[in-house]
Amino acid sequence: MKVNGTHYRTIWPDKKNPQTIHIIDQRQLPHRFVIEDLTCLDDFVAAIRDMHVRGAGLIGATAGFGVYSAALEAPRDDFDAFMQKAARKLLATRPTAKNLVWAVNRQLAAMAEGLPAAKTERAFATACRIADEDAGFCRLIGQHGKALVAEISRKKQGKTVNILTHCNAGWLAFVDYGSATAPIYAAHHEGIGVHVWVDETRPWNQGAKLTAWELGMEGVPHTLITDNAGGHLMQHGLVDLVIVGTDRTTRTGDVANKIGTYLKALAAKDCGIPFYVALPSSTFDWDLRSGLTEIPIEERSPDEVKYVSGQNSKGLTEAVLIGPVDTPAANFAFDVTPARLVTGLITERGIVPPEEEAILRLYPEHR
Ligand code: MRU
Repeated sequence: MKVNGTHYRTIWPDKKNPQTIHIIDQRQLPHRFVIEDLTCLDDFVAAIRDMHVRGAGLIGATAGFGVYSAALEAPRDDFDAFMQKAARKLLATRPTAKNLVWAVNRQLAAMAEGLPAAKTERAFATACRIADEDAGFCRLIGQHGKALVAEISRKKQGKTVNILTHCNAGWLAFVDYGSATAPIYAAHHEGIGVHVWVDETRPWNQGAKLTAWELGMEGVPHTLITDNAGGHLMQHGLVDLVIVGTDRTTRTGDVANKIGTYLKALAAKDCGIPFYVALPSSTFDWDLRSGLTEIPIEERSPDEVKYVSGQNSKGLTEAVLIGPVDTPAANFAFDVTPARLVTGLITERGIVPPEEEAILRLYPEHR
C-alpha cells in the first residue's frame, strides 16, 4: 500500500544484498517512518518480540525470513541442531498468532532434505513465497469482502457505509493490503463511499497509531474513537458493519483477536449489526476446536497499561505514566470471540459462516 504516494510492503529483502531484510519499524509510527535492517537471527527475534513488526500475517512472514537468516548463520557442521534451536527461539517470541508457528514449521519442512547450502537456498525461496502468498491472500480477501460492502451501499442507496474496526488488521499487520482493511480498500478504490470508525485499541494503541495512519495514507475517510465508544455508535445506527482481523481461529470458527474484540462482538449482536472476521488460511489452527480453552493468550508487560507513549510538543516520543506508580496492572493482549457471535469469516477462498462443516467445505484438505 502507499506511503506518501510510494508503494511499500511491510517486509522485503534488499535488492542488492538479499541477506539483509528490510522492515518498517512500527514502534515509530505514525510520527516517523523508519526502515530497519534485520541481518541476524537475534534481530528477527527482537523485532517480533518487541513489536517492531506485529500483526498475525507479518509476524509469520518475519519468522519466515528469520529462519532464512538463521540458516545463513548456522555452522555448516552442526546445521540442523542450530536450526532447531533457532526455530525454538522464534517460536518463543509471541504465543497467540498462529501464523508464527505455521511459518516456522513450513520452513523446517522445506529444509528437511539436502546439504546446508541447498537448505539455505530453499529457506530464502520459501520465505519469499510466504510473503508473496500473504499479500496475494489478503488481496483476495479484499475482493470477497468488497461484495459485502457493496451490498450494504446498494441497500443504503449509495450512502456512505460506516465500518468499525478494532486494532490494526491493516496492511501493516500483513505483507500488504491487510485482512480487515482489504475489503475497505477494495471498496474505496472502486468508488464505494466508506467511512471507518477506528478503535484506538489500548494499551498499545494499534488503532490510533497504525490503522488511522494507513487509512490516511490511502485517503480513506476515518474517525478515531475511544475503545468504549463502539457500543454507543452501534446503538445509534452509526455502524453498518464491523470487520476485524484475527490472530488465531479454530476449525470451529472461534476467533482470537486483540483484547476488546469480544465486547464489540457482543454489542454488534445486541444491535443486529453484521460482525465479520477477515483472515488468510495461515491463521486457522486446524488442531483446535475450542477457542476459549485452547488458544494461548499472550500477557504482556503491565507497563504498556500504565504508560502511554506519544509525541510531545517538541516532536519527541515520550512515555507518560497515567496512574499511581505502584498500582498493579494486568495486560491480557487478546480475547476470544465465540463463533456464535461471528456473522462470517472472509477468507481468500470466499466468505463462510463460522461453522466447522462450512469451513471444511472451503478447505477440504483439512478434513
Ligand atoms: O499485538 P499485535 O499488534 O500483534 O496484535 C495483532 C493485531 O493487530 C490484531 O489482533 C489484529 O486485529 C489481528 S492480526 C491481523
